[in-house]
Amino acid sequence: MATNRTFTMIKPDAVENGHIGGILNMIAEAGFKIVSLKLTQLTTADAQAFYAVHAARPFYGELVEFMSRGPIVAAILEKENAIEEFRTLIGATNPADAAEGTIRKKYATSIGENAVHGSDSDENAAIEGAFHFAGREQF
Ligand code: CMP
Repeated sequence: MATNRTFTMIKPDAVENGHIGGILNMIAEAGFKIVSLKLTQLTTADAQAFYAVHAARPFYGELVEFMSRGPIVAAILEKENAIEEFRTLIGATNPADAAEGTIRKKYATSIGENAVHGSDSDENAAIEGAFHFAGREQF
């Protein structure tokens, strides 16, 4: 059964470009409740672990370097059917394919530097959320 939580990161490109406020506003306008939130930075080892599933991909090194190069915003979000609803809100991985009105259409610059992360399953949302937030930081 679907849970009502997902995990997101506002990635280094969007933080560097001053889009934290714009993206959080789109998230709030879409009806998500923020239950955890922090500005943090992934170490190289954190990014390698977080994206271990992509370790065999040709872009893995580039992805790890990108995700650890500056601060990110990590957040846990709550809404009914959160995983699917949030993936709709962020749009396709490649901003060239992202629908109008999505976060990536508005803020992403390339398939690699695509502004936001959204969990792909309830199981991964729980793992990714726990990676960043202790139980007492989840409201
Ligand atoms: P996301 O879907 O959040 O998690 C995996 C990330 O890998 C993806 O966002 C992109 O940032 C990155 N990625 C996926 N495909 C490519 C690609 N072809 N080239 C570079 N980076 C990619």
